[in-house]
Amino acid sequence: MLNPSPKETQESLKRSFAKYLAADNSSPAVGKLFDPSKHLSYEEPEYIHTMEDIGFPASSGVSPVAVSEPFRLFSEEAISIMREEIFAKEVLEKHSYSSDIAQKQLRGYAPKHAKFIFEAWKHPETLAIISKIAGVELVPVMDYDIGHINLSVPGKKTEYNSDALIAEDDDTAIVDWHRDSYPFVCVLMMSDTTGMVGGETALRTGTGEIKKVRGPQKGSAVVLQGRYIDHQALRAFGGQERITMVTSFRPRSPWIRDDTVLTTVRPVSNLSDLYGQTVEYQLENAETRIRHMLKNIRDSMKAGATDVKAIKFFLEFEINALTHLNKEIVEEHLVAKGHLKEVCEDAAKRKKVE
Ligand SMILES: [Fe+2]
Repeated sequence: MLNPSPKETQESLKRSFAKYLAADNSSPAVGKLFDPSKHLSYEEPEYIHTMEDIGFPASSGVSPVAVSEPFRLFSEEAISIMREEIFAKEVLEKHSYSSDIAQKQLRGYAPKHAKFIFEAWKHPETLAIISKIAGVELVPVMDYDIGHINLSVPGKKTEYNSDALIAEDDDTAIVDWHRDSYPFVCVLMMSDTTGMVGGETALRTGTGEIKKVRGPQKGSAVVLQGRYIDHQALRAFGGQERITMVTSFRPRSPWIRDDTVLTTVRPVSNLSDLYGQTVEYQLENAETRIRHMLKNIRDSMKAGATDVKAIKFFLEFEINALTHLNKEIVEEHLVAKGHLKEVCEDAAKRKKVE
């Protein structure tokens, strides 16, 4: 499953939405507020760059897809409702975070203070779209990371030189080179980008070259397999405000390896929610695998057979998963609130050494 050939890659990209819609998407989050016929305004991306397109093996991540070109996702009406929700007094008061790399972020406010946003990202039709583009069936990693907001006011347009080359230490990067904590992200533009320039995502390809992907316009989004690709967010210029909403995703299947880390989110999170929800979903996935293994073991005992290879595979998988999780649950007193610069610098250094 994790090593598709280039042909399989292309085939899987052509799969219809029907497959995703037919999948078991029964979600308790389907509610009365988000109406896909009114609030989705989907138009297919012009192009989806594969991992192979940018010089990586198709099997390097959890999907053969690297990044999409921007695509229309939500209607104007949906974006206005979302904006109302994030600008609510309680959200701004209780869910604001800032760090040494981002001045203002809003996190962990859904579903309590943002039922519409919550429903929008959990709706089976939205998930079918994101999954189809990502080339793997996805669900939001956890509720806490639904609708992460980045707020900034871009500098004046005149400061921008579009001919400037992006160098390693380029000061036009708003977030330096890094890999995300979660397998996939969908970045949605919430602001009018008329008159704004810049704001692209720069990717480092397998051959070390830099590839820029255009930023989305209001109501549009990009999907990126950010856990497996070094990338940086470039500064935008012009315009009054720039608000992006970032929702993170993981594969729905508990059988696909989960490389989720909490490095980039731990310093800007309520740890009770972040740790609780991380452990919860990982234990739910482990529960599914354990129940499956239990059934197999009982069946083979009945048949007087044994499958040592399968037992060992299962045990190795669980040991790796739990060891990985254990490393991510860092003691609270060791988490430096708001300190993310080092995380980015570590990533940049690591890359230079490699
Ligand atoms: Fe990122």
